[in-house]
Amino acid sequence: MTPRTPLVDPQGRHIVYLRLSLTDRCNFRCSYCSPGLETAHGDVLDRSDIRRMVGIFAEMGIRRVRLTGGEPTLRKDIVEIVADLTATPGIDEVALTTNGHRLEELAGPLRQAGLRQLNVSFDTFDGDRLERLSGRAADVERIRRGIAAAAAAGFPSLKVNTVVLRDVNDGELGDLARFAWRHGAIARYIELMPFGGGTPVSVAEMQRLLEEQGVTLVPDATRGWGPARHMRGASLDGDVLRQGLLGFIGAITENFCGDCNRVRVSASGALRACLGGRDEVPLVGLLRSASGEAIEAAIREGLSRKRDRHHMEDESFETMVRIGG
Ligand code: 5AD
Ligand code: SF4
Repeated sequence: MTPRTPLVDPQGRHIVYLRLSLTDRCNFRCSYCSPGLETAHGDVLDRSDIRRMVGIFAEMGIRRVRLTGGEPTLRKDIVEIVADLTATPGIDEVALTTNGHRLEELAGPLRQAGLRQLNVSFDTFDGDRLERLSGRAADVERIRRGIAAAAAAGFPSLKVNTVVLRDVNDGELGDLARFAWRHGAIARYIELMPFGGGTPVSVAEMQRLLEEQGVTLVPDATRGWGPARHMRGASLDGDVLRQGLLGFIGAITENFCGDCNRVRVSASGALRACLGGRDEVPLVGLLRSASGEAIEAAIREGLSRKRDRHHMEDESFETMVRIGG
């Protein structure tokens, strides 16, 4: 590996984690994510752009890549991209976030390609409610089969991610925990960020609702790569006592920027140092023509704009789908 100086932002934070969007497109239309979004088009990083870019990031100290979207499994070459990234020297973990629609067929191949961490978005067990929330393509049974296939494929880390919406799915938090634990997964609850419609529920209230819905909680010190805080939970599931981990992402009530370790690249190859920032540095042209040094310089330039924290409360946002969460 070419030694390059590690990526450190102006606040002295070491950047070790890349979130890479593979496509702007999604077959779902979650109200909180892409209200009324038209299918986006434009030039998208291809497999060799991605391989080159991640190789350079790895030389600069990136250790982990999460593939996001849109819906990353809409790409025909998703398994090959995962295989390229897990084979990249320096990359220790490759993770993927999916809506679960294609998971039944992809869980085995993705695991074989070296994927170790899988997050599946799942907000409700109710088919009509899911259709209202995520559109006509979203099918509860199909996502459930996908999660079962992921459990069978043996991912070292499997998470079921739920965005909690008041008066929509806030009555299902206990059932979602028991469901996740039956599959050996972590149940994760995410505060709604103000991109689209819906009313958020705070992490504190989620925990109160979980207790009401039959889950007893004790604090747990587990820390992952991201901003989630954890609790250990237990609940009767019929006659069976189940236990497992729960993760909470206080996207709004807890400012998690202090220990931010990440950088984002959009599907079209724009580097974005902060979820809440507006500055972007385009990398796609460089990836197809420039030297490694020029690409490295562009990445550093983008990182130099990383601010101390996001300013979601006073900035308007493009939809989540463009920046990949
Ligand atoms: N607030 C919180 N989480 C969101 N996601 C998408 N939009 C929002 C939002 N407004 C999450 C989804 C999914 C991932 C792709 O991003 O839950 O887990
Ligand atoms: Fe698609 Fe995920 Fe956004 Fe829903 S939250 S529209 S599944 S990218």
